[in-house]
Amino acid sequence: MDQEIQQLVDKTVRCIPNYPKPGINFRDICPLLKNIEVLNKVIDYLAGKINFEFDYIAGIESRGFIFGILLSQKLNKGFIPIRKKNKLPGEKITLEYKLEYGSDIIEIQADAFKAGSRILICDDLLATGGTAVAANELIEKAQGISVGYIFVIELKDLKGRERFDPKVPVIVALSD
Ligand code: PRP
Ligand code: ADE
Repeated sequence: MDQEIQQLVDKTVRCIPNYPKPGINFRDICPLLKNIEVLNKVIDYLAGKINFEFDYIAGIESRGFIFGILLSQKLNKGFIPIRKKNKLPGEKITLEYKLEYGSDIIEIQADAFKAGSRILICDDLLATGGTAVAANELIEKAQGISVGYIFVIELKDLKGRERFDPKVPVIVALSD
């Protein structure tokens, strides 16, 4: 089954060379989103791999919203958006993190969850891990506990998962 889903995702996600800049092989998830049969299989597969308790799925803007919402509906858990700067209303918790060049800011609403809540972090793709590490720090700053990471695609050569706490499970459909 793992191999079947890997092959399905591999066949359905399109690689666009040199986008958005030279040297980047961009994984375009749009063909997968359009293919409802494969999309359903991917969501079923990822949902079936979760073997721990959690309270909420936190999806990272913007592609993490797509899979995060589908999984939260499938698993009957609430969804919490982690947004880029100045997009959320009300009191927020903010985290600035380093990118290859410069820095970025992600935010979560201060009342998004109760202290001690168990959060599953969701995104479409794990590359260097910088975004997911920042999401984990943001969850911790908001007094939550990150209990897992879930991605459709992992770019394994970039070793993003090595930046996570090894005790926290990482679920992926395709490790490429
Ligand atoms: C992409 C992707 C992840 C992140 C992965 O998001 O959806 O969030 O990059 O890269 P990393 O592991 O090296 O941090 P992007 O910032 O392109 O935003 P988008 O989802 O709005 O397109
Ligand atoms: N985010 C970071 N690296 C990416 C890649 N190669 N394809 C799609 N999204 C990405």
